[in-house]
Amino acid sequence: MRLLVLGGTRFLGRHIVDAGRARGHTLTLFNRGRSDPAPVPGVEQIHGDRERDLSLLAGRQWDAAIDTSGYLPRAVRAAAELLAGAVDRYTFVSSISAYGTFSRPGLDESAPTAPPPPPDADDVTRYYAELKAACEREAERALPGRALVVRPGLIVGPRDPTERFTYWVRRLAEGGRVLAPRAPDQPVQLIDSRDLAGWMLDLVEAHATGVFNATGPAAPLTFGPMLERIRSATGGRAEFAWVDEDRLVEAGVQPWDELPLWLDLPRHEDFRGFLAVDAGRARGAGLSFRPLEETVADTLAWLGQRADSPRRADDVVLPPPAGLTREREGELLERLAA
Ligand SMILES: NC(=O)c1ccc[n+]([C@@H]2O[C@H](COP(=O)([O-])OP(=O)(O)OC[C@H]3O[C@@H](n4cnc5c(N)ncnc54)[C@H](OP(=O)(O)O)[C@@H]3O)[C@@H](O)[C@H]2O)c1
Repeated sequence: MRLLVLGGTRFLGRHIVDAGRARGHTLTLFNRGRSDPAPVPGVEQIHGDRERDLSLLAGRQWDAAIDTSGYLPRAVRAAAELLAGAVDRYTFVSSISAYGTFSRPGLDESAPTAPPPPPDADDVTRYYAELKAACEREAERALPGRALVVRPGLIVGPRDPTERFTYWVRRLAEGGRVLAPRAPDQPVQLIDSRDLAGWMLDLVEAHATGVFNATGPAAPLTFGPMLERIRSATGGRAEFAWVDEDRLVEAGVQPWDELPLWLDLPRHEDFRGFLAVDAGRARGAGLSFRPLEETVADTLAWLGQRADSPRRADDVVLPPPAGLTREREGELLERLAA
């Protein structure tokens, strides 16, 4: 197939590109050439800013477009309207965040999405849910019945620029005493970027449309066992210093940002369903998952070889890297787990 990827050089998009090349598809990427300026062998690269000018895409034809870089409805509208006559199908990568509220577990694709953002809202951090939901509607509006909307949960694995899952892999591989929230039963969902990329290509190849939550694993996973499995898969050198959630909060530790994947559910009832959505529809459509241990091993191998900083200072979409510095972790261990 001839595939156009809007994005394609950072994380999920890059895995889609790698999988697409391995399957013999012909790929064109459209991006600014900033995130990874190195050419991808055998792939056509068109450089442009999707928020300013898409004219370099005009007059071309592809079988499918895959939009991994849509955050603003007006940018998705512009691309989807331009490409409506140029592609058969348009895949938009949304997020489970599009639901906006997560007070109950088991949200499926029929759950309402976030209300419209304020007019001209472009603060992607503040209005992420509203903007992503509005982007989905723009894709479907421009290509009625021809849009595929994928709502991933937390995406993990090699090339992840967010440091969320990666924090635990790196920290537990380093060994020593590791500060960890005592939240053994908190649900966790995540998906290896390569599993997501391969399955998305399966759907694109099958001309699928509609909406899919996309997260794993297949069997329920909770926070304590997840950390234990990462510890084992990284050599078992680390020793956990489990600290009660209340005490972490009293000490000012930020759930999710400082200790990633920890939600502090006792104080955040409204996130009870965030890492517990229903991905049954995607599993029914063939989504499958490699073992967590394989993701851990590959993430660790990637960490050993990546450049110091995978992010750019002018990137407004990415949050600051998650996780504690070793210095802050040391102070907290002294105070909370002496
Ligand atoms: N990470 C998660 O846990 C998670 C969870 C749920 C959903 N998602 C969604 O997953 C998607 C995948 O993100 P990704 O970063 O992995 O995708 P990616 O396609 O690997 O990287 C982002 C691409 O967008 C390009 N880009 C950014 N701004 C652009 C602009 N103004 N004009 C043209 N190109 C632009 C970047 O290249 P240049 O910088 O060179 O332009 C880069 O190629 C996102 O839509 C995100 O909302 C992520």
